[in-house]
Amino acid sequence: MQYDTIILGAGAAGMMCAAHAGGRSIVLDHAKAPGEKIRISGGGRCNFTNMYAGPENFLSQNPHFCKSALTRYTQWDFIDLITRHGIAYHEKTLGQLFCDNSAKDIITMLCAEMDKVGAELQINTSILSVTHDGQRFKVVTKAQGTLQTLTAPNLVLATGGKSIPKMGATGLAYDIAQQFGLSLIETRPGLVPFTFAEDRFKPLAGAALPVRAMANGPAFDEALLFTHRGLSGPAILQISSYWHEGENVVLNLLPDVDPFETLKAKRKTDGRRNLSTVLAQMLPSRLAEFLSKDWALTGNLADQSDAKLQDLSNRLTNWQLRPSGTEGYRTAEVTLGGIDTDGLSSRTMEAKSQPGLYVIGEAVDVTGWLGGFNFQWAWSSGWAAGMAI
Ligand code: FDA
Repeated sequence: MQYDTIILGAGAAGMMCAAHAGGRSIVLDHAKAPGEKIRISGGGRCNFTNMYAGPENFLSQNPHFCKSALTRYTQWDFIDLITRHGIAYHEKTLGQLFCDNSAKDIITMLCAEMDKVGAELQINTSILSVTHDGQRFKVVTKAQGTLQTLTAPNLVLATGGKSIPKMGATGLAYDIAQQFGLSLIETRPGLVPFTFAEDRFKPLAGAALPVRAMANGPAFDEALLFTHRGLSGPAILQISSYWHEGENVVLNLLPDVDPFETLKAKRKTDGRRNLSTVLAQMLPSRLAEFLSKDWALTGNLADQSDAKLQDLSNRLTNWQLRPSGTEGYRTAEVTLGGIDTDGLSSRTMEAKSQPGLYVIGEAVDVTGWLGGFNFQWAWSSGWAAGMAI
């Protein structure tokens, strides 16, 4: 069967590309339905973009690469699209836009957009091999026990990253990209909870508080959640993308107050209370108790000198922790690294080493923050390739 474009992966990027590619195109996927990650995203409501999305919200070996696609197909273009389809949405927090009803509305919309241009979709299909004969790509597939060969002058790799293998994530895009001369930036799980040796935070599991978190990158003012195995919550997921094994993370447990001034003031009013009790007025009580033991805090507040209060204040605003690792691809929302952008055109996503080969979405070494940025990259890069084809 001959096509103009074969797209591997019916996820966010692949479907967006198919909806904009000219000519006859087909999208192939081994899953039993298109857009499975869209369906489960945002707790079933899909955080489909972010009102404040810009290049600064993305990690990549080349921070400039994402600019072209993001500025030519913006969050406002995607908002226009869903508005035209009558999909109601709301801002949850920090510019994050979610469907009012269901993430399935986004999948239905993308399928409708594909139908409009006559793009075909074939699910439950294994990709067995991809070759190029000098003019066309040849893709051999197996669907319901039957082998088929498809050919096309354009091939789009949109099979995503390695995150959540249980949902069908594979390294297929990386393998094919390498086969055609593209190189890889080492991959790591991103937007992922931290684990700690000996379940250090187990007694705190379930406790949550707003913090300022940092690890080798920007500071994030969001919620922290203690888990049975370590740390999670939006603040932690955000910094996990900047963290490397063996490094510390830094938490400011009281980002909105000056603890030194607060403790000094309390020394006048609550001097007879012990430190643990005073901390429990400023932090969740289980955390206050935990820190009092961990830092061996003793005595009443009245007994503390200014120097001691300053020291405690520094600990509260600069709590240094060393994770033993992360929960890995099993739960990571994204894959950092991937296909090196050096080998791609930032305008079209086409490979410099192989004309007609395009790479889009999470497979590329462009990874967004938590908050709708990763879908925006899928829409923008999928659109850029689609428009170029
Ligand atoms: P995506 O992974 O969506 O699609 C790849 C497709 O390729 C899949 O359909 C897969 O089945 C197929 N495929 C893979 N290997 C194949 C093979 N060997 N053969 C055939 N087909 C193959 N982002 C965001 O902005 N807002 C959010 O709310 C969320 N929420 C969220 C929740 C959870 C639990 C996860 C895991 C991730 C998110 N994300 C997110 C991230 C977001 O889902 C992700 O960045 C995009 O789906 C990436 O889109 P792609 O199209 O590149 O890959």
